[in-house]
Amino acid sequence: MYSKTNSEVLLKNSKDQLESKWILKNIPYDLLFSLLDNSYESLILVDADGIVRFMSQGNEGVTPISVKDSIGRHIKDVRPDSKMIRVLKTGKAEMGRSMVLNHKNRVIARIPLFKNGRIIGVVGKLVFNSPEHLKKFYNRINYLKSQIDYYKGELNRPYGIRYTLDNVIGRSVPIRQAKALARRAAESDSAVLITGESGTGKELFAHSIHEISRRKKNNFVKINCAAIPGELIESELFGYEAGAFTGANKKGKAGKFELAHRGTIFLDEIGDMPLSLQVKLMRVLQEKEIERLGGKPKQIDFRIISATNRNLEELMINKKFRLDLYYRLNVFNINLPSLREIKKDIPEIFKHFLDKLNPGNKQRITTISPEAVKVMLNYSWPGNLRELRNIAERAMILCSGGRIELDDLPISIRQGRNTSLPGNTTGGSLKIIMENTEKKLIQDALEKTDNSRQKAAAMLGIHRTGLYQKMKKYNIS
Ligand SMILES: Nc1ncnc2c1ncn2[C@@H]1O[C@H](COP(=O)(O)OP(=O)(O)OP(=O)(O)O)[C@@H](O)[C@H]1O
Ligand SMILES: [Mg+2]
Repeated sequence: MYSKTNSEVLLKNSKDQLESKWILKNIPYDLLFSLLDNSYESLILVDADGIVRFMSQGNEGVTPISVKDSIGRHIKDVRPDSKMIRVLKTGKAEMGRSMVLNHKNRVIARIPLFKNGRIIGVVGKLVFNSPEHLKKFYNRINYLKSQIDYYKGELNRPYGIRYTLDNVIGRSVPIRQAKALARRAAESDSAVLITGESGTGKELFAHSIHEISRRKKNNFVKINCAAIPGELIESELFGYEAGAFTGANKKGKAGKFELAHRGTIFLDEIGDMPLSLQVKLMRVLQEKEIERLGGKPKQIDFRIISATNRNLEELMINKKFRLDLYYRLNVFNINLPSLREIKKDIPEIFKHFLDKLNPGNKQRITTISPEAVKVMLNYSWPGNLRELRNIAERAMILCSGGRIELDDLPISIRQGRNTSLPGNTTGGSLKIIMENTEKKLIQDALEKTDNSRQKAAAMLGIHRTGLYQKMKKYNIS
């Protein structure tokens, strides 16, 4: 009916043009018509004078004027708010514009049509039935984009940051000794094991050794041994060939060891490595060879630096850590001092953190009051340099003048309270005392890390899931 009228109008007006295009001759009439009148996009076609020449069925009911009656009338009579005339004037396409039609937001496109360089009409197209459709696409793109950002970050984190021993602050004897050892280790290719309490700078030292070694031009690849899910270990570390398993990347994937070729592999939290992985790692260390899933063995040249805050000797006695692996990894041992052992460096390290957190020192903090220094020296710093860093960040936010005052430090530090002597632990059964102590330690760790569960877990030397469980048990929010 009206659609026939539509098509007659369309064909009559553009007959010559249609015939001149041989390709169109091969399209059956009904197919061509369905192309114009499909239910996914609604179309309006106006000629150079702004007269409506075609309207698809989807436009029925949008305005009081029916589609049939719209044909042959000026677009402004049919749709007073239409912007198609603007496109006739400018000749510029307007893509992805939003417009309210029938009280709904719609996404439309207005496309100028040219013949021999002259504008002969405009087609208005409803691209998506509703912004919800568009939103779906948008969300999908956003999701993919965030994935890319994540992987970019993953790539840049281990390889991009440049630390050298100059970033290691401190002049006390234990720090100087550790730095001297690190320099010697960097000259060789031997395996280095860095030990020390949580937050003492193990990762910083590992980076620095790589940066001053002959391997610095190649990758520094970090593997967090405690954090790789069991089922991903093989593919993460050793990679896989194309089509190795369903769901695999089509091109295959290089494992972390391959990425570290001629560079350094940093095995962090080695004390938390599952025994099954220890066996595999031992094999790789012996043979210096890795095998992608579904691939051939390949020689890899890497140096190993590992780190842990756990007591490996104790883990070995409890059969949680392999003796042979321990000897392979512990060729060169660097034991980092706790902050308690390098107390006289505290003011310098504190200032260093203030500078780092406040580039250019916009707040113009130049000194620390003697009282503030005194309480910092008396405190036991169970979270070591990481804790000091958090305290510096907090103080910088609180500080109102040019000097860090006593008041800018948390109360626990001012009172010299430390986590090894929690209050109110006497009385009751051993179980209750131990539970009270545990609860107190967790609360303190959360307070010191500004409620960062990840940092608190690291400070307490437990896994994050373990911390969650205990927080639930003790009702700590
Ligand atoms: N001597 C130092 N001079 C300056 N900054 C330091 C020093 N030691 C550690 N830091 C800083 O302290 C923070 C903690 O260091 P790092 O992450 O290397 O500790 P870690 O020993 O690996 O801790 P964890 O065992 O909890 O993983 C980092 O921000 C690091 O840059
Ligand atoms: Mg670390």
